[in-house]
Amino acid sequence: MRELVRFGVSIDKGLSDKFDALIKKKGYSNRSEAIRDLIREYLVKKEWEGEDEVVGAITLIYDHHRREILDKLTDIQHSFIHLIVSSQHVHLDHHNCLEIVAVKGLPKSVCDLADKLKAVKGVKHSTLSMSTTGKQIV
Ligand code: NI
Repeated sequence: MRELVRFGVSIDKGLSDKFDALIKKKGYSNRSEAIRDLIREYLVKKEWEGEDEVVGAITLIYDHHRREILDKLTDIQHSFIHLIVSSQHVHLDHHNCLEIVAVKGLPKSVCDLADKLKAVKGVKHSTLSMSTTGKQIV
């Protein structure tokens, strides 16, 4: 069983009230769980500034009728094959496609892949969801 640590935090009343209102809205039952999530979020953010393996998901929205876009996106993904765990293609409507690419690798390389995919002409929107392998946080 993991050891629990208790600590007190002194903050401005106004800030505390705002935090309480926000976590209530988000559905947290108490401050501890909200603070644990904030700490995890911060640690994951720091992981992406480090040199250890991270996990994420790249989403791409594009019109598949755009000239050569599929070839370009495929070429880039093949040149980063060591980072790609899986990908899913969803036909949203007659024109638009959603592609979700699950990635795992060094932060700098994953960001490089995401940047290259985003920069392809015809990509309407792209995001990189920065997550964690889960090994460095509890
Ligand atoms: Ni499609």
